[in-house]
Amino acid sequence: MIRCISTSGDGSPTVFNKELAEHYHSMHGAVAESMHVYLQEGLDNVSLKNISVFEMGFGTGLNALLSLEKAMSGGLTIRYMSIEKYPLVANEWQMLDYSGFVSENVWKHFKTLHEGPWNSEYEVAPGFVLKKIKSDLLELNGDFAFDLVYFDAFSPQVQPELWTVGVFEKIYHWMSEEGILTTYSSKGSVRRALQDCGFVVERVKGPAGKREILRARKTGLPAFGK
Ligand SMILES: C[S@@+](CC[C@H](N)C(=O)[O-])C[C@H]1O[C@@H](n2cnc3c(N)ncnc32)[C@H](O)[C@@H]1O
Repeated sequence: MIRCISTSGDGSPTVFNKELAEHYHSMHGAVAESMHVYLQEGLDNVSLKNISVFEMGFGTGLNALLSLEKAMSGGLTIRYMSIEKYPLVANEWQMLDYSGFVSENVWKHFKTLHEGPWNSEYEVAPGFVLKKIKSDLLELNGDFAFDLVYFDAFSPQVQPELWTVGVFEKIYHWMSEEGILTTYSSKGSVRRALQDCGFVVERVKGPAGKREILRARKTGLPAFGK
């Protein structure tokens, strides 16, 4: 993997994958995008106190860090599972400085997010349990009941094999009945693939630089208790 660190529009760092010519986040703002797509439109819409989250693509650990912050400040308990095929190495994640975007008390756990073991569950801080799976999403099988899915793969243009009905169907069966999935993509083909496997999909306002994103829920039940 040939990668380098870039600074996005809100001053937060992200990673650039040179082979795919894609950033891990929007260059309009990495933290702003994660906060909007996964926290505001995802986590904040789950009305449970004990939440099981699945993230497609651990990458920088930014979504995990922001979710950890929410758990620490919002009295939530989060069991967070994330899959990553190409983990960052230490000298990459050590260059990611999100200290100005979360409190010191949260930031001190960033190291633990990355240095903790792969493939076994561990407590990062009270109320936040992490399991990082070092594998390919296409090879993951299991019996899960996630309440929330952060679908954060590289774009459908460069990774079309991950945005298929087959993959979304597998994830659909891994979700609890009122589970929701959020993703930064608003592509029509992604929306249709989600609908084809049974999700009820809505387009919601996107972060800076993006008109819309997608939020899908497993059932038509009123899961959005905002
Ligand atoms: C757009 S980046 C987002 C990463 C992360 N959510 C973040 O906030 O930094 C996509 C991530 O998915 C990982 N990835 C790509 N293909 C994968 C696959 N088939 N299975 C698991 N992870 C994959 C990449 O290595 C990368 O870390």
